[in-house]
Amino acid sequence: MPFDHVLITGASAGLGAALAVECAGPGVTLHLSARDSARLEATAAVCRAKGARVHPVSLDVRDAAGMAAWVSGAGQLDLVIANAGIGSGTGDAFESDAAARAIFDTNVTGVLNTALPAIAAMAAQGPDADGLRGRIAVIASLAAFVAGPTAPAYCASKSAVQRWAEARDATERKRGIRLHAICPGFIRTAITARNDFPMPGLMEPEVAARLTLAGIAAGRLRVSYPRHLYAMSRLTGALPPGWRNRLLMRFPAKKAEDA
Ligand SMILES: NC(=O)c1ccc[n+]([C@@H]2O[C@H](COP(=O)([O-])OP(=O)(O)OC[C@H]3O[C@@H](n4cnc5c(N)ncnc54)[C@H](OP(=O)(O)O)[C@@H]3O)[C@@H](O)[C@H]2O)c1
Repeated sequence: MPFDHVLITGASAGLGAALAVECAGPGVTLHLSARDSARLEATAAVCRAKGARVHPVSLDVRDAAGMAAWVSGAGQLDLVIANAGIGSGTGDAFESDAAARAIFDTNVTGVLNTALPAIAAMAAQGPDADGLRGRIAVIASLAAFVAGPTAPAYCASKSAVQRWAEARDATERKRGIRLHAICPGFIRTAITARNDFPMPGLMEPEVAARLTLAGIAAGRLRVSYPRHLYAMSRLTGALPPGWRNRLLMRFPAKKAEDA
């Protein structure tokens, strides 16, 4: 992959860990964060074994000051991936107040805590031969396109960051900074492990990481996969909201988790 200096949040597990390993190689510097330092160190060890220089740091994306200090102190950054996120559903009941707030804090504010200092850092670093100063990828979801009644905060949080990244790209690209909204379908990670319903197109994190990085390298503003589920999400999202809620309430709900 053509990225030598990469920063990734939520790199201790799942998609974030797979992205780190996929980026790793000789000559590559990785700045990795998550809260669980032991699991993060395990990712770092795999990346070092592939020849990368790795700087892991235990950090919560909700810590705005800590994130700003980390991102701005990382030096050259070719690619920043705001990946850390949590998910929860209603189960057979309601979305709790605590879950709704925790999801927005991590999935929206945490993404801004990553992307805003990254934009500032990239604006201050020199452009490459193509005039590009850096790329920022926000991990949204196909859930961004459907206001799913069994995961209200999760869908809304993903919609917020997908729309923010796509819109902000229009002005940032004028000064050589690109943003990318990554919209995956189901990936086999801790977030989906508790789903006890069929997950069409379920993919391994390594496959999702490769699709994500290939889309970013190709310069695509929206990187969505798998195609058939993206089409289904757009169609479902386009239904009148009352119809959509009645339809989606027929499906099993994602379980509530300790958010
Ligand atoms: N799995 C899917 O089907 C799927 C589909 C579409 C999009 N996504 C998105 O992909 C991203 C990665 O999710 P995943 O499926 O790989 O889940 P995961 O295996 O649970 O990984 C989540 C990562 O985020 C980190 N994290 C969570 N809260 C954090 C916080 N407050 N501060 C710092 N790091 C935090 C976790 O590390 P610590 O616990 O160590 O902090 C972990 O490394 C999320 O944004 C998710 O919404 C997932």
